[in-house]
This record gives sequence, structure tokens and C-alpha cells, in this order.
Amino acid sequence: MSRGLFVVLEGGEGAGKGSVLSAVAEWLLAQGIEPLCTRAPGGTAEGQVIRSALVQSGANWEPTAELLMMMADRAQHVGRLIRPALAAGRVVLCDRFVGSTIAYQGGGRGLSSEVILELQKIAADDVAADLTILLDVSPAIGLKRSLKRLAEEKSSEDLFERLDIGFHERVRASFLKQAAADTEHWAVIDASRPIVEVIGDVQARLAERIEQRSADWAGP
Ligand code: TMP
Repeated sequence: MSRGLFVVLEGGEGAGKGSVLSAVAEWLLAQGIEPLCTRAPGGTAEGQVIRSALVQSGANWEPTAELLMMMADRAQHVGRLIRPALAAGRVVLCDRFVGSTIAYQGGGRGLSSEVILELQKIAADDVAADLTILLDVSPAIGLKRSLKRLAEEKSSEDLFERLDIGFHERVRASFLKQAAADTEHWAVIDASRPIVEVIGDVQARLAERIEQRSADWAGP
């Protein structure tokens, strides 16, 4: 539907999405492209309310309730922020989207991917990522990084980090399966390497996609 470009960063805990997103946004700005940077859940003020209820320590939602709240956040996020930005021709950089719902609520919690995709259609309709970059890291490395960051930030948003390693292994397997099933729209980057190397690879993928999109816009 869009004239803009919708780029999503996905990955398990501690994959470095936040740092990569900031660096990539600065790199785009230096080229005169001002991206909209956002995240899920919590990309809107209303979604932030949902995020606080969902990812705090000790939250104990029924998996289906958790899924529906993620999707309420999705509908608000797409309707109020992402769709208008894409319609205005902007580059949108989003930290997590439906890939996370399939990985966490599907792979992790065991809910049906078909149901998740049906709800995604209701929440987001035709808004889909042009490119999803998976920052892949083993849970053993990622969880350690993530818990360290949460402690430094004195954040209590650690609901998922506190789940067992088996949950995080299923999340990772789901992400890798999604990426393998749709290589046209997904790219996998090894995020266990130093962050500068990861950022360089993400920028290279993005540069390719921007070039391709500019050629599409220019026409034959
Ligand atoms: P973040 O800490 O990467 O910002 O994400 C918050 C948590 O929300 C993270 O542990 C993954 C989880 N999540 C889901 O379980 N389902 C979803 O659909 C999304 C977008 C995030």
C-alpha cells in the first residue's frame, strides 16, 4: 500500500536491536532521510499503557490475553503511526512487529500461527514490512546481555527475560523458520559479533533495499 519503506528489526532478547536502530537512524539522517523510529509494543502513547501492563515483572496474563493485547497495540500502532507515515512516503524503522508475535506468542507460548496471522490481518490489514532484519543471537548470550542492560537501567520490564531458556530457544527457532520461509523479505544477521560489524551489515542490507525501491519509483 505504501510509497514509503517499512523496515523491521527482529530478534530475541539482547540481540542489540535498540543500538542498531539508533545507529541506522543516524546513518539515514546523514543521507538526508529522516526515518520514523518506533517500537512494538508501545510505539504510541496508548500502546505504552499496554506495554507497561504486559512486560512488567510478575505480570501473569493468559497467553490468549497476551496475544490480544499485543494485537491491540498493533492496531493502534499501525492505524495512528505506521500507516500514515508510509502513506506520506517516509522510511519507518520499527523495533519488532508481527514476526515477534509469531515467535513469542506462537513459538514461545504455543498459540496457533494461523490465529495470529488472522488477528494480524484485522489489526494491520495490508501493512507489512518491506524488509525484516533478524538479529540472530543464541539465548545464552542474548539473555545475559539483556539482563545486564535491564539492571543498569533499573527497568522492571523483564517478564520475558525471566522465562526459561527453552522458551527463548523456541522463540529463536521460530524467527529462523520465518526468515527461511521468506528470503525475499527477511535477512538474517549474526548478532553475536561486535556491534559495529552488525550495524555495518544492517546498513548494507538497507542500502540495497533503498536503491531497489528508488529504481521501482523511477519506473522503466
Ligand atoms: P523489547 O524489550 O524488545 O522492546 O520487547 C518487549 C517484549 O515484548 C519482548 O520480550 C518481546 C515481547 N513481544 C511479544 O511477546 N510479542 C510481540 O508481538 C511483540 C511486538 C513483542
